[in-house]
Amino acid sequence: MKDYLKKDEWKIIEEGFNPNYNRISESIFSLGNGRFGQRANFEETYSGDTLQGHYLAGIYYPDKTRVGWWKNGYPEYFAKVLNAPNWTGIKIDIDGEELDLANCEVNDFVRILDMKNGVLERTCTAKMKSGRIVKIHAKRFCSIANDNIACIRYAIKAVNFSDPIQLTPFLDGDVINEDTNYDEKFWEPIHEEATENEAYLITETKKTEFQVCTGMRVQVVKNGDIIDIDGKSFTKDKYAEVAINTSIKDEEEMVIYKYVSNITSENHPKSNLLTVCKNEVEKATTTGFEQLLTDHQNAWAKKWEESDIIIKGDVAAQQGIRFNIFQLNQTYTGEDERLNIGPKGFTGEKYGGSTYWDTEAYCIPFYLSTADQRVARNLLVYRFKHLQKAIENATKLGFKNGAALYPMVTMNGEECHNEWEITFEEIHRNGAIAYAIFDYIRYTNDEAYLTEYGMELLVGIARFWAQRVHFSKPKNKYVIHGVTGPNEYENNVNNNWYTNFIAVWCLKYAMYAIDYVKSQNATQFQSIADRIKFYEVTETNQWKDIVDKMYFPVDQELQIFLQQENFLDKEIIPVKDLPAEDRPIHQKWSWDRILRSCYIKQADVLQGLYFFEDAFDIDTIKRNFRFYEPLTVHESSLSPCVHAILAAKIGDYEKAYEMYLRTARLDLDDYNNDTEDGCHITSMAGTWMAVVKGFGGMRVADDQLSFTPHLPSQWKGYSFKIRFRNRLLKISIDTSGTHIQKLEGVDLKIKVNTKEVQLVGEDPILC
Ligand code: BGC
Repeated sequence: MKDYLKKDEWKIIEEGFNPNYNRISESIFSLGNGRFGQRANFEETYSGDTLQGHYLAGIYYPDKTRVGWWKNGYPEYFAKVLNAPNWTGIKIDIDGEELDLANCEVNDFVRILDMKNGVLERTCTAKMKSGRIVKIHAKRFCSIANDNIACIRYAIKAVNFSDPIQLTPFLDGDVINEDTNYDEKFWEPIHEEATENEAYLITETKKTEFQVCTGMRVQVVKNGDIIDIDGKSFTKDKYAEVAINTSIKDEEEMVIYKYVSNITSENHPKSNLLTVCKNEVEKATTTGFEQLLTDHQNAWAKKWEESDIIIKGDVAAQQGIRFNIFQLNQTYTGEDERLNIGPKGFTGEKYGGSTYWDTEAYCIPFYLSTADQRVARNLLVYRFKHLQKAIENATKLGFKNGAALYPMVTMNGEECHNEWEITFEEIHRNGAIAYAIFDYIRYTNDEAYLTEYGMELLVGIARFWAQRVHFSKPKNKYVIHGVTGPNEYENNVNNNWYTNFIAVWCLKYAMYAIDYVKSQNATQFQSIADRIKFYEVTETNQWKDIVDKMYFPVDQELQIFLQQENFLDKEIIPVKDLPAEDRPIHQKWSWDRILRSCYIKQADVLQGLYFFEDAFDIDTIKRNFRFYEPLTVHESSLSPCVHAILAAKIGDYEKAYEMYLRTARLDLDDYNNDTEDGCHITSMAGTWMAVVKGFGGMRVADDQLSFTPHLPSQWKGYSFKIRFRNRLLKISIDTSGTHIQKLEGVDLKIKVNTKEVQLVGEDPILC
């Protein structure tokens, strides 16, 4: 755990240059606008430790699978979100001496991520080897008002010298991913051009043939005036620059503006990329930095207006939750149904930028409550569009008759994860995809979704489970062997309780969906059934038999569900008795030691109790929580939030708070020692849930919205807004009670604790 960032309600502040933490800061201070984003790499050359990262939504490369021992069924490739052309770079050369903070004495270094306004700023004084001292003030943003553009304002001041200076803003497509299977470069050159003040680059990804046009125009301001720059242009394959030769005097400040546009073939025909990019750059330059910044800030103000959570009396908690909301909003805007939420967003390469079960299990509730319901619907439709690929994926693995196995990791619907214990065995992901439909409908009441898309997908998933179980004679029950549950620190286990439970739930929910669609639109049902060759009676009879006779491992003495068969044969030593130097165990222990141990990476049985809370009484939840949480190392970022919600549910508020802080500040405090790889974007939605579903106790059950609010003793109060069925509600909890205000929409009856509350006007109601 690290504690080098200053606490502030709206800003992330790093004071003092920490080269050892540079990769961590590069992740934390990342910017994005849903369309593209980047790590907080310096504009000027930096020869110290850095992970260069610029990313474009939906642009990936299918890196040929590399494994030690090929296993039939492995996908051909692992999709990688690509490190895209670098558009931030500005080389600074003072009379032949390059500015590079790795070779300077750096003082007064401050890096600020202004979350309210979506702006990254950096100031410092650098003493170069020659003794020259410069002051730098860099400021940049990726516009969310116009997601085609980004701007940089880079000011440099001479403190103790007067010398010739060369400023070289550039675009560089000759970039690499650190994470490549064959050390290949993924970009091909298509076109470069540069003039005295602008440059354009078109590059194309190998194999996938996505094209991107990256363009820039440059202005230099000296003593308040735009100077005639007459830059020297230079291009080579995948690279274009404009070198501006001028001079700088003692105490003089020079400001470079870089107006940038990124346009990809995902949104425009390849033949138009250059024209569109040039237009955007031209428009941006004419509008000017300050106005673009104002538009961008206004757009952020709107986002905050809808999604902010205010926590009073606890700056660390406030900063934590805002950081999470900020990152979620800059990663996914919901405007493009082809896009999804990569576990690292635009902050790093790890996890390939692809879609995981994280979206359905963790992110949907955040977008359901903080955005128009079409955003969550888009995320569901994304999976529906991949249904045929999920069927192909299952067919490759030997399943038949339209059974669908969704991929663990995907860019375009194809599986692209290639570790056998996850690819083949972590099949519970299919359950989360079905659950998200249920969750969406429960929240929005948009049951028509079942007719339009849901039922067909649920049948595919049900068919998979029906073929994946087998009947055990000795047990006289159906069983599921050879799986990895959500806890990836166990592989190839039999009868993982969570997987068995969600499999049965999927079968039941698919049958519910079938009945619903039949009752609403029999013709539509028949046409889907004919198209997918669905033999209702035969198939559902088999599903019912599985539902009736599924095996669930339990321990009668402890009265708990067993994570998998024979779990209690393990040596059970709580995590608190593990020496600190052994943690995180995934970095300190051999894999076999982890597998044999009782330690749990993330909620597994508890994930099931969280999803299906209504099916269990509170004592059952308590017993399981108290058994499993002490064995959980929370080494997946997705773990603490589920525990925070359940702990609040059972009234263990200290634990809930501990878990909340851990999820909210996971990256800021680098709890799991891996923020350098990028931030844990998908788990950030879990942090939001920890507040709203955990402390706020928000639920939707029996068609009614309810809250069981709790005010953590560390806070003076907190408030959040949610969208619910065309209403906008504000919920504020403080020492005087819970105040609910309906800001938009017609009357609504909700429940607060056990009391029914009718929300009629717009005045806050104290409950
Ligand atoms: C977790 C998975 C998760 C993945 C991406 C892993 O560490 O165990 O549950 O899907 O990270 O976030």
